[in-house]
Amino acid sequence: MSSLLQELEQLHREAAAALGQASTTPETEAWYAEYLGRKGKMTSVLRGLGQLPAGERPPIGKTANDIKVALELALQERQSALAESDMARALAAEGIDVTMPGRRPQIGSLHPTNQAMREIVGILVQMGFQVYDSPEVETDDFNFGLLNFPPDHPAREMQDTFFTTDKDVILRTHTSPGQIHAMRQYAPEPIRVILPGKCYRKEDVTARAEMMFYQVEGLAIGRTITFSDLKGTLLNFANQMYGAGRQIRFRKSFFPFTEPSVEVDVDCVLCGGKGCRLCKYTGWLEILGAGMVHPVVLKNGGYDPAVFSGFAFGMGIERQAMNKYGVDDIRLFYANDVRFLARV
Ligand code: PHE
Repeated sequence: MSSLLQELEQLHREAAAALGQASTTPETEAWYAEYLGRKGKMTSVLRGLGQLPAGERPPIGKTANDIKVALELALQERQSALAESDMARALAAEGIDVTMPGRRPQIGSLHPTNQAMREIVGILVQMGFQVYDSPEVETDDFNFGLLNFPPDHPAREMQDTFFTTDKDVILRTHTSPGQIHAMRQYAPEPIRVILPGKCYRKEDVTARAEMMFYQVEGLAIGRTITFSDLKGTLLNFANQMYGAGRQIRFRKSFFPFTEPSVEVDVDCVLCGGKGCRLCKYTGWLEILGAGMVHPVVLKNGGYDPAVFSGFAFGMGIERQAMNKYGVDDIRLFYANDVRFLARV
């Protein structure tokens, strides 16, 4: 046997053994370069073929080729076996256990303002009030004039206003202008409506005041409506909103569109009236402004004040939520901190 043939067989054994040792895909690639690549051992042996006498070349050439094909085949097998075990390992490491309980996704909840709004509207609707939609952008007349604010009345200064480029067109500072819209639609029929919505005031933002906030207005008009109806309605509201047995008290106040005017408090939900941090040691929480609809406003709405009377009230929604949930800073409502939003 020619020494070249021996050399080839020796190389075949060596290469086959080395391939058996390659245990990763990169190692099989290095093996290919070492044996079958352009500068590999097999290639350099084959270069020796040229020096052989012509008669010996075909059988040795055939053997060399068979070995090369056999090694290439072995490489393919090795590589696919490795790929399979790599895959099996990856699957074992990253695989999901479908029998494990799922992770609970974080689900959003209603904004605290909306929760309070729905609760308030729910209570009043159940008492027989109908929801009436009225615009957030108003004329100066609807927001002030028709509600009996004279042009230079100091009460206008209570509510610093956002004006548009047209100085008669403003963002409403309260929901009370909706009273005029509702009255003008229904007069001379009796009315029992609530008007929920956004209000705007150009105020310095503090723990107690925001530039944008929500109110719910209430309005009842009829031939026999008295201050007692207002009291009964608000006591019923307070008991449903803040708990059965709650007390309310009326303090004299002033609004141009009601006469008499009152501010209404509920006994503190936290201390029951003894005095605590929430009620600032007064025992009472302010909940709303109210009064009997002023005759001028009745007339502006299309009702004859000699025949009709009515009551109105207006409450801040965030204020109710603050009272009920013991929140001491109105800015939390619109700061979008999920820790607050998820708390209520
Ligand atoms: N509009 C008043 C305010 O914003 C509240 C109010 C409404 C008072 C209705 C009396 C009657 O403060």
